[in-house]
Amino acid sequence: MTAFTAYFGLLDVGKPKAGQTVVVSAAAGAVGAVVCQIAKIQGCKVIGIAGGPEKCGYLRNELGVDAAIDYKSESVAEALKLAAPDGVDIFFDNVGGDILDAVLMQINRHARIVVCGGISQYTDIEHARGPANYLQIIAQSATMQGFTMRDYLARIPEAFMSLMTWQRKGELKVREHVLHGIDSFPRAFQMLFTGENQGKLVIDL
Ligand SMILES: NC(=O)c1ccc[n+]([C@@H]2O[C@H](COP(=O)([O-])OP(=O)(O)OC[C@H]3O[C@@H](n4cnc5c(N)ncnc54)[C@H](OP(=O)(O)O)[C@@H]3O)[C@@H](O)[C@H]2O)c1
Repeated sequence: MTAFTAYFGLLDVGKPKAGQTVVVSAAAGAVGAVVCQIAKIQGCKVIGIAGGPEKCGYLRNELGVDAAIDYKSESVAEALKLAAPDGVDIFFDNVGGDILDAVLMQINRHARIVVCGGISQYTDIEHARGPANYLQIIAQSATMQGFTMRDYLARIPEAFMSLMTWQRKGELKVREHVLHGIDSFPRAFQMLFTGENQGKLVIDL
């Protein structure tokens, strides 16, 4: 499900073109890691934002992103200026909040903001806050569009074929973080918010 989300969100909503700069938040997670790799396959420059040195190392060394930003130890705004001196064409956002605001300040004309998720806001959904820097969407004639995987159910066979082909060619890697037994569910759920999961979080029953 997360790979299909990455596929349709990036290709249909983000509409990347070769040479464009794509930024991905929660980039080492289940959705984000597939987005990074599909964006590389499309010939884009890819910058991943993730928490901690292990995840940033994984993005650089295993997934081949052009730059990785550790939002837990560095300023996203400053690091992004260095990594994307020509600005951001597509932002695939899984997080929202401060990271969304920082990236908005560096979008290019006609940029596309793909709103896939807002995990930084899920723990207090009644008070979820939108982007403070939304005026950038006007200034840059940008588009900000949400989507859900449900919108694309009829096209799953197409995505499945492409994803399988890329995986067989070695262009798409997937890592799973497996816990065992139904009793691990509360811990597993918590891990999504602490960032302890490394890859697609799966409970083996
Ligand atoms: N639109 C759709 O149809 C659809 C479908 C599936 C999933 N989603 C969304 O996609 C996003 C990713 O889901 P996933 O299943 O692939 O999970 P995931 O990325 O494997 O795990 C969640 C990751 O989010 C990061 N995170 C958690 N709290 C954060 C915070 N406050 N600030 C910054 N990063 C934070 C953590 O990574 P770090 O260690 O890097 O912080 C954590 O590992 C979620 O927002 C989910 O709701 C949307």
